[in-house]
Parts: sequence; C-alpha cells; structure tokens
Amino acid sequence: MKARIAVLSGDGIGPEVTYEAVQLLSRVGALYGHEFVCEEALIGGAAIDATGDPLPRATQAVVSRADAVVLGAVGGPKWGTGTVRPEQGLLGLRALLGTFANVRPVTVLPALAELSPVRADRLAGTDLLFVRELTGGAYFGAKSREQGHNGQGIVATDAMVYSEAEITRVVRMAARFARGRSGRLTSVDKANVLETSRLWREVTTRVMRDEFPDVAVEHVLVDSFSMLLIQRPTAYDVVVTENLFGDILTDEAAVLAGSIGLLPSASLGERADGSVVGLYEPIHGSAPDIAGQGKANPVGALLSVALMLRHSFGLEKAADAVEATVYGVLNAGARTADLTTNGAFTTAAFGQLVRDRLA
Ligand code: IPM
Ligand code: MG
Repeated sequence: MKARIAVLSGDGIGPEVTYEAVQLLSRVGALYGHEFVCEEALIGGAAIDATGDPLPRATQAVVSRADAVVLGAVGGPKWGTGTVRPEQGLLGLRALLGTFANVRPVTVLPALAELSPVRADRLAGTDLLFVRELTGGAYFGAKSREQGHNGQGIVATDAMVYSEAEITRVVRMAARFARGRSGRLTSVDKANVLETSRLWREVTTRVMRDEFPDVAVEHVLVDSFSMLLIQRPTAYDVVVTENLFGDILTDEAAVLAGSIGLLPSASLGERADGSVVGLYEPIHGSAPDIAGQGKANPVGALLSVALMLRHSFGLEKAADAVEATVYGVLNAGARTADLTTNGAFTTAAFGQLVRDRLA
C-alpha cells in the first residue's frame, strides 16, 4: 500500500514527538511492505511566526491532498490569547477536514499505576474509549462581544449549538465501537440544564433504540460523571459526549493513565466517497516547559500512529504490533524524564527502542 501523510508537528514538544512518530511509520512501512510518503507543513504558533496565519493556505493544500494527517501539538505562552492564536489552526484544521469524532482510548497499564494519584486497586482493568464530538458545540458556535447595558461592562457569548444530524453521526460512530467492545455505551450530557443536552439525549435514545438494540446505553450527567470516572473507572467502556465536556473529561481521564503524554487520539470524519478522513495526534499540549530537551515521552504520538494504521488504512495487524511494542517497552521499565525524575530515556532513545523491538 502507498499513502501520503501530512505531517504538522506544530509547537513546543510537538516536533520532537512527531519526529519519532514519522520514524516509526517508516519502520512499519519497511517491515510490512508499505510506502508512507510524508509531507511536512506548518501549523499553530510555528505557522504564525512564519506566515502570520495559524493555518496557512499552503498547509491547507498539503492536508487536502493527504490520505491522513499526523499532528504534534499547538500553542504556548509566546502566542498568548490575542486575536490570532495557535489553537485556531487546530480548530480550523478539524473544521476543514470535517473530523467530527475524536476517539481517545484510555488504557491503564499496571506497570504505570504508580504514576497515577488514583489507587492502583481502583485503576486495575481500566480500559476506556472516549468519543468526543469535535466540530460542533460551544467551540464552533457564534462568538460575540458587545457593550452591555446598565453597568454590565462587556458581555461575551459563545453559542452552544447542536443539530440532530451532528449528534446522530457521532453517536453512530460511538455505538459501532461499543458493539465491537463490551456492548455498552455511556452518553454524557447535562440534560437537566442545557437544551442542547436534552436534544443530545433524545437523539441518542432514538439512534440506539432504532439502530443498535444490541448495545446497552446509559445516560449520565456530566458533573456526576466527572466524579464517577475517578471513583470507579472500570464501570465504563465507551463514552460519547459533546465537544466541551469531552475536552475536559479526556484530560481528567489522562490522570487514570498516569500522564497525559501517554494518550493518543484519532479525529475521524468521512469523505464524500465514504472513505475515512483521519487526523492523528497525542492528546497532550505543547508542554513548553520541557520542549527541546528530549524529556517528553513520545508514547501518545507513537500510539497515534497505531490508530492511523487501524482507522485510516485498515492495517489491523501492524496497529496491534505497534501498540503491543509500545506497551512492552513501558512494561520493561523504559521511562523518559517527564514520567519519572530518574527516567533515563530521551525522547529519541525511547522511539528508537520501540522501532528496534517492533517485529
Ligand atoms: C485538545 C486541545 C484542543 C481542544 C485545543 C488545543 C484547541 O485541548 O485537543 O483537547 O480544546 O480541543
Ligand atoms: Mg484538550
């Protein structure tokens, strides 16, 4: 198989972990007889510095002709929260590609349980799959700022908007994952307060009843779920939720895994011809405090390669092999400095070990 991959490494630790992802991809290609042609492009703060635009036209062209996209991280204190921000590059990219579902697996390795503040006996057996809606809700609704009346000062608005169609497609995707796993789906909303959540619950109930009668669905309010997730993480399997709740809950879920640097993600959509559009990135940010020092673990980026092999190219065997090898290396005790203060592996040495062990 031959595929064209857009590589957007972005800011902070983005370039160093993405470099390891690209090296791993070429190792996979050599082992399994595939050719991955990588094309680099700018995004985020790096793109602002070079062009003034967090998602330049040249980058849009590169991702548009790619079969899949690998991304590092965007953002950093250098660019602040002004009118032009690195994060606009990522949100714009998700909108451009139409990647409406963000799949974030959270696997807890017993060997890493000591990294989590949650007790090992509660963590044992945790294996979650979050499906976060990614192109709707408050992140994409109309924004405004106007002068308020009667001494209010400025009034700001972020409209939270969801359509039945947007809810239906992401719930369907989550339900398909649930069908292939435990047969259970948890839908998280705030239906006791928000109108968008009441629609979310109605649509979810209908889709599950009509199309997935074999999958059990449970609705949980987001405030309660944020507590239960830590108290009894093994009670859940596939979790579907809207954009803002999913952003927050997946960072919280990273605490179960021990470090946000360990988690991969796949942002998925569908082209007009029915093929999968995929954007693959670790869920961590740019971690400017440790950037450029070889301290960042590349696990989230490497596991994102596995998700790409699986979801964009159907290379299940290669994906399984990458995951087993990364977990094997962690189980054998390889640690970078971001995970433990005495972590002896640099980002590059960790990536090399994974490539050496990949059979
Ligand atoms: C994430 C990140 C992004 C988001 C930021 C960088 C825009 O936090 O992927 O979770 O909020 O979606
Ligand atoms: Mg986030």
